[in-house]
Amino acid sequence: MWTRYGLLVLPSVLGLVSARLGSTSLAGGNLSRRDINPDGVIRGVNLGGWLLTEEWITPSLYTNDAADEWHLCAELGKKKCLSVLESHWRSFFTRDDFEEIKSAGLNSVRIPIGYWAVDVLEAEPYVSGQYPYLIQAVNWATELGLSVLLDLHGAPGSQNGQDNSGLIGVTSFYSNTSNIDRTLNVLKNLTEEFTQDIYGGTVIGIELLNEPRLSDTFTMADLKSFYSQASETIRGVNGNINITMHDAFWGPQYWANYNPLPNSTQSTALLDYTIDTHQYYAFEPLNNLPHDVILEKVCNVSKILKSTNQGILPTIVGEWSLETGHSPNSSSSGLQNKDDSQAKRTWFRLFFESQLAAYQPSASGQGQPSIGWYYWTWKTDYDIDTWSYRRGLAQGYIPSDVSNSSTLVFPILDNGCVDSTFNYTAPRNPGSSGVRLLPASCWETGIFALFFSFVVCIS
Ligand SMILES: *[C@@H]1O[C@H](CO)[C@@H](O)[C@H](O)[C@H]1NC(C)=O
Ligand SMILES: *[C@@H]1O[C@H](CO)[C@@H](O)[C@H](O)[C@H]1NC(C)=O
Ligand SMILES: *[C@@H]1O[C@H](CO)[C@@H](O)[C@H](O)[C@H]1NC(C)=O
Ligand SMILES: *[C@@H]1O[C@H](CO)[C@@H](O)[C@H](O)[C@H]1NC(C)=O
Ligand SMILES: *[C@@H]1O[C@H](CO)[C@@H](O)[C@H](O)[C@H]1NC(C)=O
Ligand SMILES: *[C@@H]1O[C@H](CO)[C@@H](O)[C@H](O)[C@H]1NC(C)=O
Ligand SMILES: *[C@@H]1O[C@H](CO)[C@@H](O)[C@H](O)[C@H]1NC(C)=O
Ligand SMILES: *[C@@H]1O[C@H](CO)[C@@H](O)[C@H](O)[C@H]1NC(C)=O
Ligand SMILES: *[C@@H]1O[C@H](CO)[C@@H](O)[C@H](O)[C@H]1NC(C)=O
Repeated sequence: MWTRYGLLVLPSVLGLVSARLGSTSLAGGNLSRRDINPDGVIRGVNLGGWLLTEEWITPSLYTNDAADEWHLCAELGKKKCLSVLESHWRSFFTRDDFEEIKSAGLNSVRIPIGYWAVDVLEAEPYVSGQYPYLIQAVNWATELGLSVLLDLHGAPGSQNGQDNSGLIGVTSFYSNTSNIDRTLNVLKNLTEEFTQDIYGGTVIGIELLNEPRLSDTFTMADLKSFYSQASETIRGVNGNINITMHDAFWGPQYWANYNPLPNSTQSTALLDYTIDTHQYYAFEPLNNLPHDVILEKVCNVSKILKSTNQGILPTIVGEWSLETGHSPNSSSSGLQNKDDSQAKRTWFRLFFESQLAAYQPSASGQGQPSIGWYYWTWKTDYDIDTWSYRRGLAQGYIPSDVSNSSTLVFPILDNGCVDSTFNYTAPRNPGSSGVRLLPASCWETGIFALFFSFVVCIS
């Protein structure tokens, strides 16, 4: 046990010191939007599980039996929960992560946040204190030349009843006008804060509501009414920011020609609205499909995203991953990471590049709705193979510089999809790109949860 401590702590501390020394090179320069994103394509990752936690992403925080942040804090009490979450906010993402994200050729981050970072009632168990970390994140992004999409991932009452909203099993967002009012205030706060000159235009957009689940009590008409009110709120503050609207799983085609503010001038308004669609093969009924069917589906999505003259608004794929079997859970890393076979890494590379080609605009052809993507997610506690971008980098199944097409292997066909018949086999051994991961053996040790919180406290 002690040897393991010794072996692990040393590289962490050394890594920290070296990263600090090399970290100021870009700070102070004035990067223009064109320098940051020369071809205009968004290539990003989500900072999942940071300012809004999810049990499967950071099981080390969930030492009790809670399954969402609401219950985590309800069981710990506000005081203890604040101290647990403070050390998580301080350590789960640091400037080192932002530098590694930049080095991987990525140019943007999508940051999920819960309403309780801005507005929490005494009767709600949530604690706030995330906001200074959000500001820090935007400042790091500015220094490194990354843009930011702010994403309201958890709304009061919960918009989807899932862990990612902070509260499982309840979907009362729309059934209480107080929830709507509070949400509008949060969006107003984010717009007022991050459109200030001091942030240098780093925040390019605000996503009104992540993954709303529609039902009899939260209909499409209700969602559109909310989108209209929210757009009015944001426009009332500042016109110079993109408003991103989740497609509610209806696909970007459904939202063709949609304008949440029908009476404003169409030409100006349309430029500033963006649709977010999430593309997953991890959840029913699209999980456990044969690989060739998955690749065909990806190519079908590509055709929609590259279609012209359909009135489809500029569209990002705001979440996608390499998972094709199970929805993730806290044991996924242990079950999945043991296999780092050539066959698995060969498939991951093909699947990654297929989606990459599908979710970004093709070089030829004007007027495509596609404007780019955000992978879900940069890391998890134990870097689950299908969900951790940085594990993909470390093991070579995600290209080392995603903005440099010379680092990709699969040819692109005329239809904008990859040629999946191309004969590629991953290297015999997983590569090492210098990206620091937690040692693979860690997830097996019972003591690891304890050790991890020690590491995160010193970093
Ligand atoms: C950055 O911009 C500021 C304000 O526009 C200017 O004062 C400063 O000299 C610029 N710095 C560099 C490194 O160009
Ligand atoms: C609506 O939500 C507020 C808190 O946001 C709560 O105080 C109030 O009791 C709720 N009203 C109903 C009818 O549930
Ligand atoms: C937004 O809310 C945060 C957290 O409550 C607060 O610190 C900040 O001053 C607010 N910003 C604006 C512009 O209202
Ligand atoms: C909004 O998004 C569009 C499409 O990506 C982009 O051209 C435009 O510059 C963005 N607007 C702002 C204010 O960032
Ligand atoms: C748009 O105009 C119509 C007709 O003039 C009006 O009924 C509607 O309330 C207006 N909508 C908004 C959001 O202002
Ligand atoms: C792809 O789209 C075509 C044309 O709409 C359809 O016939 C086919 O079934 C789709 N493929 C899959 C795997 O869904
Ligand atoms: C957790 O996910 C793994 C795959 O990642 C799966 O094999 C396992 O059955 C899941 N466990 C539960 C309890 O869902
Ligand atoms: C792109 O990648 C190729 C192949 O690895 C490399 O030779 C080249 O220097 C890279 N270009 C840039 C601009 O980094
Ligand atoms: C693929 O390439 C390998 C080695 O590069 C070769 O042994 C194999 O025969 C090729 N397979 C096909 C189907 O061309």
